Amino acid sequence: MADAVETRTSGDRAAKLFMLSAVGWLLFGVTLGLIQALEFIAPDFLAGIPWLVFPRIRQAHVNGLAFGWLSMAMMGGWYYIVPRLTRTKLYSQTLALVTGWLWNVALAIGVVGVTLGWTQAREYAELAWPVDIGIVVLLLLTGFNIFMTIARREEKDLYVSLWYIMGTLIWFPIVFSIGNVIWAPPTGALAGLNDAIWGWFYGHNILGLWFTTGSIPILYFIVPKEVKRPLYGYKLALIAFWFLAFFYSAVGTHHILQAPVPEWLKTISVITSIGLLIPVAAFVVNIFMTMRGSWRVAFYSIPLRFALTGAFWYLAVSFQGSLQALRGLNQYVHFTNWSVAHAHLALLGFVAFSMWGGVYYMMPRITGNPLYSERLGWTHWWLTTFGFIGFFLVLTAAGLVQAAGFSRGIPIIQILPGIEPLFIGRAATGTIIIFGQYLFAYNIIRTLRGNRATSEVPEVSAADKPAASAASATA
Ligand code: HEM
Repeated sequence: MADAVETRTSGDRAAKLFMLSAVGWLLFGVTLGLIQALEFIAPDFLAGIPWLVFPRIRQAHVNGLAFGWLSMAMMGGWYYIVPRLTRTKLYSQTLALVTGWLWNVALAIGVVGVTLGWTQAREYAELAWPVDIGIVVLLLLTGFNIFMTIARREEKDLYVSLWYIMGTLIWFPIVFSIGNVIWAPPTGALAGLNDAIWGWFYGHNILGLWFTTGSIPILYFIVPKEVKRPLYGYKLALIAFWFLAFFYSAVGTHHILQAPVPEWLKTISVITSIGLLIPVAAFVVNIFMTMRGSWRVAFYSIPLRFALTGAFWYLAVSFQGSLQALRGLNQYVHFTNWSVAHAHLALLGFVAFSMWGGVYYMMPRITGNPLYSERLGWTHWWLTTFGFIGFFLVLTAAGLVQAAGFSRGIPIIQILPGIEPLFIGRAATGTIIIFGQYLFAYNIIRTLRGNRATSEVPEVSAADKPAASAASATA
C-alpha cells in the first residue's frame, strides 16, 4: 500500500473511547490480580468480605482483563486501522461510540455480578446470561460497522489485516454463543460430557479465534509502519490465516485429555495442536523478514518494542502449547500452576504486549499529541517484561513442584509448603507488573492533555528517524 493515511480519521473517536476504557479495565483487573495473589499467601486476608473472596475476585480479574482491557484495546485498534487500510470513513462513528459505551456497561454489570455471586460458573464464560446476550449483540454491531466500512472501501486491495479482522468478527460471535450456551439460560449447560467438549471448544477459541486473529492484524499494521517497509509476505500471512482457522477449531479437547471423552476427538485435538506450529512459523517468518535490516528501530520505538515482544511471546506460548498437548506432558502438568503460567504467557505475554504496542502507536496519533514521556514508556516496558518473566518462572516452578508431588501420590497438604515461597514470588513479581501499568495509564492520560514531560527534551519521533528501507510505510 502506498503511504497509509495517517491523518486523523472518523474512526479515531471510537478508537480513543475503546482504548481509554481498556486502560481503565487494565488497572482494575491487575489490581484484583494482586489481591487474589495475596489471598494465596494470606488466606485470612479480607476474610469475611464475601464479594472479595478468591473465587469471585478471580472471575472479575479474568473477565475484566479479557473482555475489558484486551478486547477493548483490540477493537479500538481495529477502529484505528480499518479506515486507514480502506482509505474511507468508518461506516458509522456514532454506532461505534454507542457500542463502546454499551460494552463498558455490559461488562460492568457482568463483573459486579460475579463479585455478588451472579455467575454461570463456566471457565471464561462466567458472566451472567443477559450480559452474554448483550455482548453477542455488540459483537454483531461491531461486525456490521466494520464490514460496511470495508464494503465501501476506496482502496482496491484487501489488506491482510482486514482478512484477519473480518474472520475474527464472523467466528467469535458464534464461538462465544456456543461457549455460553446462550440458548439455554440462566446457567447454560449441555448434557454430560458434551458440555465440557463445547466448553473447551470455546475456552481455547477465545484465545485462537478472538485474541490471536484479532491481535495479529494490529501487529501486521504496526511493525511495517515503524520500519517503513511492506509486510514481507501477503500470501504467507494468508496461509497462516487459513491454517489458524482450520486447526484452532479442533484443539479445545486438549484441555480434557484425562476425561472420558472419545479417543478420536482427543487424538484430533493433539494433532491439530501440533499443526498450529505451521501458522505460528509463518507469522514469525513474516515478522522477522519484515524486520530484516531494521532491528535497530526497536531500540527507539516504544510501540515496536512492545509489538515485537508480543510476537516473541506468541512464538513461546504456541511452542509451549503444542508441546503440552502431548499426552505425557499434559498428564504430568495438568491441574498445576504450570497451566496458570501458560495462560498468562498467552494473555499477558502475547496479547497484552501487542495491545500495549497498539496503544503506544495509536494514542499519540489519535490525539495529535506526542507521548507524554518516552522515559515512562520505556520504564513500563522494563518493569512489565522483567516482572512478567519472573512471574512466569515462579508459576512454572510451582507447577513442576506440584506435578512432581501429584505424580508420587503425595497429599496436596504436604505439597503446599513447598510452593508457598513461589506464591510469594508471584505476588512480588505481580506488584512489579502492576506498578508498570499505573505508569502506563499515567503516561497515556497525560498524553491526552498534550504536553511533554518537562524533564524530557523533545525527541525526533521514531517515524522520522532513518529506517533501513526508504520504501513507503505499509500495513
Ligand atoms: C494483562 C494482565 C493479565 C492478564 C491478561 C491475566 C489473565 C489471567 C487469566 C486468563 C487467568 C486464568 C488462568 C487460568 O485459567 O489458568 C488469570 C488468573 C490469575 N491471575 Fe492473572 N492476568 C494478568 C495479570 C495478573 C497480575 C499482574 C497478577 C498479580 C499477581 C495476576 C494474578 C492472577 C492470579 C492469582 C490468578 C489465579 C490463578 C489460580 O486460579 O490459581 N494476574 N489471570
